[in-house]
Amino acid sequence: MGAVAKVDMAPNEGLLRLARQDLLAMPGYEPVEPLDVLARRLGIPEERIVKLDGNENPYGPSPKVREALARFPYYHIYPDPEQGQVRDAIAGYVGADPEQIVVGNGSDELLDLTGRLFLSPGDSVVNAPPTFGIYEFVARTYGAEVAEAPRREDFALDVDAAERALASGAKLMFLSSPNNPTGNVVSRAELERLLAHGAAVVVDEAYAEFAAESFVPLTVEHDNLIVARTFSKWAGLAGLRAGYGVFPPAVAEAIRKIKMPYNMNVAAQAAVLAALEDRTALTENVSMIVSERGRMAKTLARLPWLRVYPSRANFLLCQVQGRQAREVQARLRERGVLVRHFDSPGVRGCLRISVGRPQDTDRLVEALTEIGAAVV
Ligand SMILES: Cc1ncc(COP(=O)(O)O)c(C=O)c1O
Repeated sequence: MGAVAKVDMAPNEGLLRLARQDLLAMPGYEPVEPLDVLARRLGIPEERIVKLDGNENPYGPSPKVREALARFPYYHIYPDPEQGQVRDAIAGYVGADPEQIVVGNGSDELLDLTGRLFLSPGDSVVNAPPTFGIYEFVARTYGAEVAEAPRREDFALDVDAAERALASGAKLMFLSSPNNPTGNVVSRAELERLLAHGAAVVVDEAYAEFAAESFVPLTVEHDNLIVARTFSKWAGLAGLRAGYGVFPPAVAEAIRKIKMPYNMNVAAQAAVLAALEDRTALTENVSMIVSERGRMAKTLARLPWLRVYPSRANFLLCQVQGRQAREVQARLRERGVLVRHFDSPGVRGCLRISVGRPQDTDRLVEALTEIGAAVV
């Protein structure tokens, strides 16, 4: 989600009169704030903040990543623009051919590069809200139109609506599975119906490790399927920015041609290699998050004014009932507990709460219990 900031029309005078007016009129993407900024704003020390608003990994990176970064001798040398070593390692991890892989500055960059390759002004992109705000943002930055196929009340895809948009000539569809912020996954049968239209279908699997399922194996059967993945969530590398895409080989080659040559820095590359070598430990962190997700869902469901939706990702979507969700978010924030608030169609009055460590859930529940008694 995101892309909800108010449209702030820049004056199109001075040099900006020469800028793309559609970009100036576009709402900006609303990112989450980093810890140091929050700590200063709230007057709470960083270590007292329970940050459950960015779907980050509370266990952080592997200690092997920290060692690899401390040891790395070549920060003064440009990275490999072909990204050979990381592509090989990632291909081994996901069971794809290295020719299919492109890496970048977070999976956001791969979504952007996909837009750059396929979209010209006036093209149409299918989006299934409520979903991750970057899809609409990417479409608009390339001057494309967004054809919306809103999800059903239970957040399942409206495949008929998406198919209608694809049949009327959309070039690209973005789809996240598990979906942010609703936490549900798309089925293989649904995806195959979408793929049958021949448009490029991007399945964003930022949270795939928490769902323990992936469509990467399907990329060998479908030459219009693109899968975007990241090290931000399961491997705790959100701040380093390390993502990748699994493309049909010819598309991967085209994307490598149009990307900036050094789009993944040497630190991120070293971190990815070390993370993949410490996969077993990182997978244990994923298991802890998945088991905490279950405990957190059960605990939150005891609050009669919260409706907790099932989730396959590292966050839970909760609908606040009989109280103002924005007010609940603000009261949590005063107590140093940060969660994300949504108020767009389909997710009105909802909070998205990342799964933290058990002690984070305890702080959250304690705060919610206090707030529940105070806010009506
Ligand atoms: C669905 C989805 N895709 C992609 C991303 C961005 O991932 P990255 O950090 O790799 O850019 C996020 C981040 O929250 C996300 O929720």
